[in-house]
Amino acid sequence: MKMRCFIGLDLPAATKLALESWRQKALPEVKEKTQTKRPAKPNTPAEPAAVPTANFHITLAFLGQIDARQHEALLQEMNHVKGQPFSLTLNTTALWEGPKILLAAPGEPDNALMDLARQVRKAARAAGVQVDNRPYRPHVTLVRKATDTLPAPLFTPDISADFSQFHLFESFSNAQGVRYPIRHSWPLIPQMSVRERLRQGLTDN
Ligand code: 2AM
Repeated sequence: MKMRCFIGLDLPAATKLALESWRQKALPEVKEKTQTKRPAKPNTPAEPAAVPTANFHITLAFLGQIDARQHEALLQEMNHVKGQPFSLTLNTTALWEGPKILLAAPGEPDNALMDLARQVRKAARAAGVQVDNRPYRPHVTLVRKATDTLPAPLFTPDISADFSQFHLFESFSNAQGVRYPIRHSWPLIPQMSVRERLRQGLTDN
């Protein structure tokens, strides 16, 4: 059985709600998807669609479809990833014209996040999973089917969050929409400086 999945960061519930609230105020024309969808009239452009708040995440590496053997290898390889906890502030937005998404992103690249993404991609390749070579651009997708007809946000977000683990998410769709259940988690563990290790008497030899 194949599984469509990605490695990523989940956002704390308070951060998801803060982003939802920002989206409602800054992008009032973006509508939440309703269950009873009216059929689109022919030749009408697709309307921008709000990503469900529960689905907000930051992708570290998109894996696509993986089989049972790759899944097993991934779980092993990710155990070797040594990441540190970090904080991010989502304080910029952008419209990506290719995938037609509107996103929020940290204005400053964070070293711990970039190093984590680099290690995760390396580990995925070691597990026999193809990962694209595009430069990593951390972001939270907030709106899909977004084109330049969507008015610019009325103001920028300023929303911070702490991260102390990363996850393997499955991505599956059914009639109710897309969901990203977490299938496995790994902790981000603070690494002590050499000075701190010595102070605590934790020498390697
Ligand atoms: P996302 O916007 O839901 O995080 C496959 O290409 C998926 O990887 C996209 O749907 C997007 O998912 C994410 N992605 C695409 N380009 C990326 C990039 N340059 N950096 C990080 N994630 C990217």
